[in-house]
Amino acid sequence: MILVVGGAGYIGSHLVKELIKTKEVVVLDNLSTGFRSLVDNKALFVEGDIGNVEVLNRIFTEYKIEAVMHFAANSLVGESVKNPYKYYQNNVSSTLNLLNTMIRYNVTNFIFSSTAATYGIPDVDIIDESTSTNPINPYGKSKLMVEEILEDFSNAYSLNYVILRYFNAAGAHNSGDIGENHNPETHLIPIILRHLLGETESISVFGTDYNTEDGSCIRDYIHVTDLSSAHILALNALLDKKVERSTYNLGNGLGYSVKEVIKTCENVTKRKANVIETERRLGDPARLVASSTKIFDELGWKARYDLESIITSAWKWHSQNKL
Ligand code: UFG
Repeated sequence: MILVVGGAGYIGSHLVKELIKTKEVVVLDNLSTGFRSLVDNKALFVEGDIGNVEVLNRIFTEYKIEAVMHFAANSLVGESVKNPYKYYQNNVSSTLNLLNTMIRYNVTNFIFSSTAATYGIPDVDIIDESTSTNPINPYGKSKLMVEEILEDFSNAYSLNYVILRYFNAAGAHNSGDIGENHNPETHLIPIILRHLLGETESISVFGTDYNTEDGSCIRDYIHVTDLSSAHILALNALLDKKVERSTYNLGNGLGYSVKEVIKTCENVTKRKANVIETERRLGDPARLVASSTKIFDELGWKARYDLESIITSAWKWHSQNKL
């Protein structure tokens, strides 16, 4: 049995839908940002928080957990700058509780969702795993803290782990059954698509004075289905003892500016956006683009979907679901 914490959230629910094809899965989620309806009905579901020792004890006693996959975190850069306590509490303190419980029950395989935000403002154009980490917001710091805790737990308690540093997750499952739904929505692609569906008057480009080709921020957008396949490869590598502790970037290796993303959304949907250029948003680095060659070399993973397919899948989801 695999325990997926945060399996009712956007990325976790996509992973569960794939993982359930080969493994038994129990999902633990407090539904603070996730939705029960996103969890595949073949998975077991427990509503609860990873900070709650009793709930964890119950799960680890009741099921023979082989590995834990951790998606139960808050993940908004801007919010973390305004409310750092929430990020250190949920992302660090509650994760420590989860890890401590794993050690008590002798469960030693862990997959951790980390982020490109751990790199801060990198001094290279393409970020690989040896690029120094220097996060500039509490969200990135909270994820890096857990990465460091994992190293110490591995040394002291033989915990085996894979850290996956996602770049910008986007897109929806090809079944059309599940997709991205945050409330409030702060992510670029769903904001543009919901605007193009007529839900908002306009969209904003946050900053056009960055040191990039068109002045807007550049990000590496990765399809949520590609993230799922990376998780499954990483899980199998851990269970087969092919890796013991590893950190991998997950991105496309291609950077797109905010303005380019808007253009691609307009092309895919054949609709025109009403775009306003505004001030920079706090905590945003100018450019985040991944090298994912390490995970290709070691586990054979490669992103399969480009920006257009990401947006096409997201458009299908958003245009069919009133959120
Ligand atoms: N942006 C706009 N207008 C909007 C929303 C976003 O211009 O209405 C810009 C942002 O300023 C940023 C880019 O679009 O430059 C992407 O912003 P998102 O909010 O979609 O994503 P972030 O890059 O801020 O963060 C995301 C995840 C983080 C993760 C990071 C890694 O939310 O968890 O990707 O690159 F750390």
